[in-house]
Amino acid sequence: MSPIPVLAHTREELNALLDPARADGRRVGLVPTMGALHDGHASLMRVTRERVADGPVVVSIFVNPLQFGEGEDLDRYPRTLDEDLKLCEREGVDVVFAPSVDEVYPGGEPQVTVDPGPLATILEGRTRPGHFRGVLTVVAKLVGLVRPDVAVFGQKDYQQLVLIRRMALDLNLGCDVVGAETQREPDGLALSSRNRYLDAEERQQAVALSHVLVAAREAASHGVDVALDSARAELRQSLGVDLDYLEITDPWLEALPAVVPDGTEGRILIAARIGSTRLIDNMPITFGTPPEARPAEPIQGDT
Ligand code: PAF
Repeated sequence: MSPIPVLAHTREELNALLDPARADGRRVGLVPTMGALHDGHASLMRVTRERVADGPVVVSIFVNPLQFGEGEDLDRYPRTLDEDLKLCEREGVDVVFAPSVDEVYPGGEPQVTVDPGPLATILEGRTRPGHFRGVLTVVAKLVGLVRPDVAVFGQKDYQQLVLIRRMALDLNLGCDVVGAETQREPDGLALSSRNRYLDAEERQQAVALSHVLVAAREAASHGVDVALDSARAELRQSLGVDLDYLEITDPWLEALPAVVPDGTEGRILIAARIGSTRLIDNMPITFGTPPEARPAEPIQGDT
């Protein structure tokens, strides 16, 4: 499929590009994006390439109006198609699918949408009502249009990833959902399209989000409460961070008890405003004594 990437705007163009690959039994991989691509997206493309080998990697670029709430400026969202195409070319993407709003929502706003359920009422969902309904609806539509074998999303939007995984399970989407690791600047700031809104001082302050998460991880051998206290202590020392939430959950975003067995996996998540820019970040966290620090298991029969 050369030259790469080929730009498709309609489902007919997309099918014409992907049907031959499907007929050959090659796997199709999808990276859904809203454009304004950066190195974090590039890593999703690389993960997708590993999953599909010589099958086509498709990047969709669609700023989805359905996931923007009141006061969230849809028109202000950066649209950088020329640069996005260059990044896709560098990453060996085969197809860029950039549909119009009419192509995705031909009848206007859809009457039937995906209900994300109770998980969409916590964390991001508390301040962004309707957001995940919009995300899941467009992801279901993109999966229907592209019919990928695998779809890759960033762990940076962790609640989104969990909800998409849930949707894939609950609605039998028929594709594997892969969560790719968050990419970070050398100082720890998670890569995000929104970082471009930070001025120099805010950029310095924004690194606090990852420091808060790391503080929790470093205290995790002492349990959930101590980890959270340690994160809060780090936060108190950080300038310019207007906290929205800081929470520890299990990997499926369910509540964790205060006392958990050694080796319990969790997730620590943060959202905060730096100036007028709202940023989110999260990290995996493992509770209890690390295995290497635990005393050896007693040998049976040995007293
Ligand atoms: O993460 C994003 O960029 C968007 O929410 C997604 C998954 C492409 C849906 O519009």
